[in-house]
Order: sequence, then C-alpha cells, then structure tokens
Amino acid sequence: MNSPTQNISVIVGAQWGDEGKGKITDFFAGDTDYVVRFQGGNNAGHTVIVNDEVFKLHLIPSGVLYSKPVSIIGNGVVVDPKVLINEIGELQKRGIDPNLSVSDRAHVIMPYHIDMDAALTQHQDQLAAGSTKRGIAPVYADKMYRHGIRMIDLLEPEVFKEKLTKAYTFNKNLIEQALGGKVAMSLDAIYSEYLGYGERLKKYIADTAVILYEAKKSGKSILFEGAQGTSLDVDHGIYPHTTSSNTIAGGIASGSGLSFTKIDKIIGVAKAYVTRVGISPFPTEIDDNFAKLIRDKGDEYGTTTGRPRRVGWLDLVQLRQTVRVHGLTEIALIKLDVLNGIAELPVCTAYNINGKKINEIPASLTEYRSATPVYNTLPGWKTLSSDPDQDFKTLPKNVLNYIDFIEHEIDCRITIVSVGPQRHQTVLR
Ligand code: GDP
Ligand code: IMO
Ligand code: MG
Repeated sequence: MNSPTQNISVIVGAQWGDEGKGKITDFFAGDTDYVVRFQGGNNAGHTVIVNDEVFKLHLIPSGVLYSKPVSIIGNGVVVDPKVLINEIGELQKRGIDPNLSVSDRAHVIMPYHIDMDAALTQHQDQLAAGSTKRGIAPVYADKMYRHGIRMIDLLEPEVFKEKLTKAYTFNKNLIEQALGGKVAMSLDAIYSEYLGYGERLKKYIADTAVILYEAKKSGKSILFEGAQGTSLDVDHGIYPHTTSSNTIAGGIASGSGLSFTKIDKIIGVAKAYVTRVGISPFPTEIDDNFAKLIRDKGDEYGTTTGRPRRVGWLDLVQLRQTVRVHGLTEIALIKLDVLNGIAELPVCTAYNINGKKINEIPASLTEYRSATPVYNTLPGWKTLSSDPDQDFKTLPKNVLNYIDFIEHEIDCRITIVSVGPQRHQTVLR
C-alpha cells in the first residue's frame, strides 16, 4: 500500500537532562515543517547558540529561530502562561515572532502549584528530587486528580470559575493544613489574572492534535523535542528522584495526540560525561578536582535555576537502558571538547551491587544506593578542535576509540558528534 512520505523524528535526553537537546533540535529544525514539545514544562531550559547569540528556551520548541517550522506545544506539556507570554515577548524583542500553536488540552501551572512544589519538596526531604520549583509535580498531580485547569478553560470564564474554586480550595487546604506551607495569592486575584492570560494567549490556543494529524496526512515532516532525560522519566527513571512526566519517546502519542506506526529516527542526546541537577544517588559522581574542572570548562550551571550541576563519568549502564526504552536509532554525543586534556577517562560499564556485577539499572532503591561503578579506563585526547568543518573520520584517534567503545557496549551507533556549543560546531558521520 502506498502512503504519503512521512518523516517523523525524535530528539530525546539520554541521561539526566541538559544533554544538549536544544542544540541538536535547532541543528535539524531548519528543514522541518513542525517542531513539537510533548511533555514537561518550564522545568526545561534548552540552549541554542547561533552566531554567538544565546537563546534559552523553556517552553517554545527549539525550532523557533527559523521561519519555516511551526512550533507546537502539545497537550502533554504543562504551561505556565506567565512564562509563555514572557518567552514570546523576549523572542519578539529579538525580531522573532513565533509561529506557535498551544494545545487547548494542555494543563496550566497555577500559582498554588508553585507554592505546593515548595511545601512538597520540604516534606519529601531526602526522597525529593530537588525540583526546579516550577510547579511540575503538583500540576501533573491535579491533572490526575481531574481538577486541573486546561488552556481552554482560561477562555471560558464560567467553567474556569467552577474548576478553579475546586482546585484552589483543595490545594490551599493541603498546602496550609497538611504541609505547613502558605498559598500566596487569593482565589479572586488568580481568577482575574489568569483570565487575562487567556485573553493574551487566545490566538495561539488550538486543537494541536488535529493540526498534527493533518500535517502527517499531507506528508509534512515533524520533529519531536523531548525535555528532561531518561533517568528523570517518572516510570523508567530513578524514582522517586524523577520529574513527573514520561520523558521517553513512548510518551509522544499521548503527549501530542498524534498516532503513528513508524518513527524514522529517534536520536538520543548524550553528554560525553554525565551531569545531574538535583537530588538522587549518582553512581559515577566525581567529587574531586576533576568535577570542578569539567563543571567550569563545560559551564555546567543549570539553564533554568542556575544551580551548579553535579558531574560524573560516562555511565553506560544508564545509556544501555536509554537505548532500550526509547528504541534509539542513533546517538548524538555532545561536549567531547570539554574533555580535551584529561589524560584518562573512566567509563562505567556495569555496577557492582552486593559483590555482583550488574548491567542494568535496578528498580530497588536500596540496590541503586549501594551501586558502585565498574570502570574501564580509556585514553583521553588533547587536540579535539571545535572547528565546524572537520570530518568524522579525522577526529583524534582516541575520540574515535571512545566512540567505538561506547557503541560496542550499548549497541547503538553514534552518528552525530558535537564539538562546541554553536549550531554549526556539529560533525555528522
Ligand atoms: P538541554 O536542556 O538538553 O537542551 O541542554 P542545556 O541547554 O540545558 O545544556 C547544554 C549546554 O551545553 C548548553 O549550555 C549548550 O550551549 C552547551 N553545549 C551543547 N553542545 C555543546 C558542545 O558540544 N560543547 C560545549 N562546550 N558545549 C555544548
Ligand atoms: P532539560 O529539558 C535537568 C530535574 C530537577 C529535579 C527533578 C524534578 O533542560 O533537560 P521538576 O521540577 O521536574 O519536578 O524536578 O528533575 N529536572 C531537570 N534536570 N534538566 C531538565 O530539563 C530538568 N527538568 C527537571 O532538577 O531533580
Ligand atoms: Mg536544560
């Protein structure tokens, strides 16, 4: 049976977030018709650098710098309308007027979600994830409780009042009476402020599942941009130290409403080492001078919160799971330039747990807490250039050796190598 040419591609985080999804999405987005976010919210911070101009995107997909692609914020995303209005305004100031549609079914982050996030993090203490305090867990929880506010509700004053009253009372009682926190805004103030946001965002609110369906039917190309990373996935990550959405490629159908039988490419973006912002055990964490060296050279400070990122050696147990759960077709390996000059690079190929060698991440928190890395040490390189015009085959021998070792261990090809933060500092195989 003949079907129109389809081109559905996906870019996802292979580790703990901040792998460089924004950079790689931007690199491919210029030729794409639609770029789509399908989960997460403004806990994400995606950096795109073009001609030394830095863009930090939290909600709008990283294809927005080009005129061709339509930007879609799907129903699985949680939207803080204040942040979205700001982001649109900042782009407009820089001469970019986003061609954007936001799902009418996307849930709205309300001020009490942010209050709840603070109270919850305090309550959960060492079992928290060290959230970005953007209200992510509470907004997804309200969605599941079924008193969440959706974008469409901001356009319907009666329904909004009805739902807000329920959600507000529920959250206020929980925050103030059970968790000892404080809700800052009154119901009336929220009601009028958020109706105002609805009015300002009205022209962007649409049934994005229908838009994507029509796009796919007419053979347009669609690129999905993940937020966060595998180890933060609420089902497959290091629970409870995760975010509250499915970050894996399997979340695309539910998070966008687009059904498909074939995805052409699922690219996992991985750093050549590992970083982590927030709380959780971290088997390959480095706590000596190398951590500081890599943090400073790699500018490893959170895009969203500015927190210093914890740094560790590459963890192939983590990447093995990533290849499997996303069904990766390939990997983009990022920030190899940051490792320039380190003589020896330990790479974790397995964990030692209670004297046993384990190749997959255990579900048991007790086991994961006690996991120590089994390392293979590979020779480093000194001379990787950030020149955009180099050929994959002429990369330094020890870089090719590092790539070869990873591919062999996790059974996935590395087809893209990033040698600097700029759009074109990208080498294709
Ligand atoms: P995302 O959340 O996955 O989009 O990643 P972030 O933007 O939060 O963090 C990635 C950081 O690495 C950003 O500051 C990028 O500018 C930077 N970056 C991306 N690729 C490279 C690279 O190959 N080399 C260097 N030195 N920096 C890179
Ligand atoms: P991008 O898309 C790195 C982390 C937080 C915390 C946990 C839960 O830029 O890669 P949340 O606010 O979601 O409830 O926090 O997840 N986290 C991220 N870490 N990059 C991100 O996004 C992140 N989004 C959330 O630090 O540990
Ligand atoms: Mg980020």
